[in-house]
Amino acid sequence: MTPTSLNRRSFLRMSATAGGVLLVPAVAMRSSAAAAAPQFAHGVASGDPLPDGILLWTRVTPTQDSLPGSGAGPRVEVRWEVARDSAFQSVVRSGAVSTGPDRDHTVKVDVDGLAPATTYWYRFALDGTYSGVGRTRTAPATDAAVAGLRFGVISCSNWQAGYFSAYRHLAARGDLDAVLHLGDYLYEYPVGGFGARGVTIRPHEPKTEMISLADYRQRHAQYKTDPDLQNLHAQHPWVITWDDHETANDAWSGGAENHQPATEGDYATRAAAARRAYLEWMPVRAGANGTIYRRIRFGRLAELSMLDLRTYRSKQVAPTDGRAVEDPNRTITGDDQLQWLRDGLSGTTAQWKLVGNPVMIAPVSLDLVPNNLLGPIAKLLGLSQDGIALNADQWDGYAVDRRELLQHLVDRRIANTVFLTGDIHSSWANEVPLDAATYPYHAPVATEFVTTSMTSDNVDDFLNVAPRTVSLLAEGGIRTLNRHVRAVEVDSHGFSVLDVRPDRLQTDWWYLADRTKAASTVRHAASFAVVSKSQKITRVAAPVGPRSL
Ligand SMILES: [Fe+2]
Repeated sequence: MTPTSLNRRSFLRMSATAGGVLLVPAVAMRSSAAAAAPQFAHGVASGDPLPDGILLWTRVTPTQDSLPGSGAGPRVEVRWEVARDSAFQSVVRSGAVSTGPDRDHTVKVDVDGLAPATTYWYRFALDGTYSGVGRTRTAPATDAAVAGLRFGVISCSNWQAGYFSAYRHLAARGDLDAVLHLGDYLYEYPVGGFGARGVTIRPHEPKTEMISLADYRQRHAQYKTDPDLQNLHAQHPWVITWDDHETANDAWSGGAENHQPATEGDYATRAAAARRAYLEWMPVRAGANGTIYRRIRFGRLAELSMLDLRTYRSKQVAPTDGRAVEDPNRTITGDDQLQWLRDGLSGTTAQWKLVGNPVMIAPVSLDLVPNNLLGPIAKLLGLSQDGIALNADQWDGYAVDRRELLQHLVDRRIANTVFLTGDIHSSWANEVPLDAATYPYHAPVATEFVTTSMTSDNVDDFLNVAPRTVSLLAEGGIRTLNRHVRAVEVDSHGFSVLDVRPDRLQTDWWYLADRTKAASTVRHAASFAVVSKSQKITRVAAPVGPRSL
């Protein structure tokens, strides 16, 4: 249901038939998002689990004119409840929170006083009408010995390039502790920009590129009307960070490739609007000054550091400027975040150090990739398509920060650091070397799993050829030149499942049959494991099996 189709009489009628209460059980929400109460047209969500708490989110539409981005509508009080059961017989926490047009009628509640490693159900109410029911789960106690954790891992969910069936497949799983979204949750482009092989599968709203606060709010609202997206938010807590497209392509601290000051105004104003809308519309627990790099701990088994690699970074260098990447005054993290990350990795008692990392950290050399494939790969990696030498938008473009971080892992003998990465619309399993030139003589210092795009174009799309044809040449070239890249696949779209145990960590790649179809099926493509303390990736035959929480 789109906000513009809201009709106060129709939802009052719906409320009346349900005895004044609209209750959509979590199990029924897969196909019923469109039937959610109109006051709650954008669903419910939870995120950033703690051992004793969870962040809850919704957005209310109290009147027909309270449309996203409008700045119109009344202040209202929204009630919330958290229960141990989906029928809300055992409510453990409840309260009320005020919202209004100043925050685009979004609602965020940071609930505390909950039990660790426990499944809860939650819902909101406005004027006697309930939202759909969300299910969520708290993190294990800080010092708990945890036998296993499982996460859905996703990135690059571009509305105009397809449907969010990957979200539906993840929502159908009952075995996830949380969903990790590594960036590009939404895209800034106007209608017709960056579709699927140039075809707009479904048009963006607003129709123009998002630049103003109203634009960003409306685009967030549009994504939040997708039934598969609503369902995945309602089924699992998310831990999410942004990459560039939440603001504009190839964003850095003072600008973006897709920002033209002459016609689009001051970049700082645009970035502030993007950040404000994001914090309103996403279940993210921001820190002081709105920082979103943060840590989520899952008992003694794992700690997840989510990075923000856009807010503090220096401008990208020209892709052929190998000397500039060694400039110690340039940064991808900013000094404070790098120090925070170093301290977290060396100070934690958690066994696995997971890093939610929006852009790839493993070095990639492309010098011997065949010429006809360099262009599409450059496009995939966000590079200039003539004279490629390095991935200037990724950690390759910020060699000093990367060396400092990786050297810290060596100096402090830190094992089991695993970078979980998005951004480049392709699947990679990398052993991360301190120096690629000495790999494998010097052991890798970490591992990295890059999850492919849910819908955004990649190499076969850029070449407009059948998948698994000429891309095989590109993959062979990448692997020949980069022996630490243990596997790479540059054609498919989908998601990953990450399974963490004390003895090993495993990643499964799941690929969609057709991103342009709302009912796309999904298939298991490949799996990789890292034995604890090895920093080595091995291929395994089967995806992880059933697990009950
Ligand atoms: Fe992307």
